[in-house]
Amino acid sequence: MVLPPKIGVFDSGIGGLSVLREIHRLLPNHPTVYVADQANLPYGTRPVTEIQAFSDRITRFLIDQGAVVIVIACNTASAASLEYLRAKYPDTPFVGMEPAVKPALEASKTGVVGVLSTRATAEGSLYKRLLKRYAEDKRVITQVAPDLVRIAEEQSQRTLASQNTIKNYICPMIDAGADHIVLACTHFPFLAETIQEIAGQAIHLVDPSPAVARQASRLWPADLEPEPELNAYYTSGDTANFKQLLRVLIDVEASVTHFL
Ligand code: DGL
Repeated sequence: MVLPPKIGVFDSGIGGLSVLREIHRLLPNHPTVYVADQANLPYGTRPVTEIQAFSDRITRFLIDQGAVVIVIACNTASAASLEYLRAKYPDTPFVGMEPAVKPALEASKTGVVGVLSTRATAEGSLYKRLLKRYAEDKRVITQVAPDLVRIAEEQSQRTLASQNTIKNYICPMIDAGADHIVLACTHFPFLAETIQEIAGQAIHLVDPSPAVARQASRLWPADLEPEPELNAYYTSGDTANFKQLLRVLIDVEASVTHFL
């Protein structure tokens, strides 16, 4: 059976929904299938080989579901497995994510930018290459922020404890003169309001997801008409909880299936 073509999107959890939201805005008629690997969250503290194995399993599933473009809506999984997946699935176009250091530095007036990311992203070779290429004579302050992944998943950003955590992460950047903060983990746009309140309105938050959606649109095969079809949602975690988060985070009412 040939399934209608879709855009496949995945992340360790809810983070990729910040990218999916942009894909839905830009391409409302293109069906999407989303996988949240919440049973294995967080990815950001795991070794590369493990993240590659999770990404591989999800990719195979997405292709079986009819994905003709796959968006790795996770900086951590992109850093660990984009090249690996491209080599393993040469017929499938992939869109990966990388910390938006270049546009942030280009827009910065102070020449200082902050980057919030997971440990795996910050320690990966992709990020080191980016810094070497764009930031040699600039100042980039990298803050590994694993607690923000948890806070975004729990949606607990309004508690005092979470606000203190956010403050501890971002105040040193701002004190050092950063005027842009790169959200280098797809979970963090869901905390943008709180981060902005704490950072102040003068600080620009940089989220690359609209550019990622544009790239997905460019990679959709030109000879394929999108066929109307319900968007599909899967999680390896708690389906009822994910259903609720879909509603709260991206205003989507949909059923959620368990991904094994
Ligand atoms: N959303 C993911 C990212 O963009 C990572 C969260 C995690 O550590 O699982 O990096």
